[in-house]
Amino acid sequence: MEEKFKQKFYSQQNKEKKKYLCATAQVLYKSQKHTASYTTTVCGREFIVLPNVFSPKYFYDTEIFTRWLLKNKKYVDVGKSFCEIGSGTGAVSVSVALTGVNVTAVDINEQAVRNTRLNVQKYNVADRVHVFVGNIFDPFMAQQKFDTIFWNTPFGFIERADLSPLEKSVFDSGYKATEQFLRQAPQHLKPQGTILIGYSNTLGDVDLLQNIARSAKLHLQRVKQTKSVEVHPVTFDLYEVVTA
Ligand SMILES: C[S@@+](CC[C@H](N)C(=O)[O-])C[C@H]1O[C@@H](n2cnc3c(N)ncnc32)[C@H](O)[C@@H]1O
Repeated sequence: MEEKFKQKFYSQQNKEKKKYLCATAQVLYKSQKHTASYTTTVCGREFIVLPNVFSPKYFYDTEIFTRWLLKNKKYVDVGKSFCEIGSGTGAVSVSVALTGVNVTAVDINEQAVRNTRLNVQKYNVADRVHVFVGNIFDPFMAQQKFDTIFWNTPFGFIERADLSPLEKSVFDSGYKATEQFLRQAPQHLKPQGTILIGYSNTLGDVDLLQNIARSAKLHLQRVKQTKSVEVHPVTFDLYEVVTA
């Protein structure tokens, strides 16, 4: 699987990005050595991880973004509504719900939706977290709006289109899903609300992201950055999306 990925992928990117993205793919495939569910810790809480779901045990951005979100009352506060696109294991959504916030979570990967529901049950927050399977905002009615919309995006840019559900957790073919998110998120935002993108400037194609935002008449403002190591040193970046 890994070799197949490298062959398809190698023609497409500059050398530096290839190195980073192949390392991401390696971590992704390594994360799948578990054949049964297991647990990992995010911000001091234990979460169930199912096979075929983006794993916070192997990818550190879940912990970093969760910590940033929980610290900022502009994003997470009692009385606000929070929408997470791409909930994966549900670690972010459940952590937010445990502060008393109402959460709506969506994932395109059915196994991730199952995983989110398991962690919702584990923490007894079913009254505060509603989970849907689907593509970005497709499960919502047009009038459904939120105070905070967050997506820890699959920031690896890749041209190939035949990605598995698991590969879609770290790669976005042609940045099509990211583009759809940027175009639709403002329609689901309450006045004074905030759209947030969890990203990595080192692993992602930030110029392309900025271009997509500009063409949607949006502006990306980086509000947080931290250095981490995922095989290679990388940065994780939190962007607020604002109307240009
Ligand atoms: C980087 S992972 C983040 C998972 C989780 N939020 C976390 O931080 O651990 C990206 C998530 O987005 C989901 N995803 C990818 N494309 C999607 C789409 N078009 N619509 C909804 N979810 C999508 C993936 O299945 C994956 O769970």
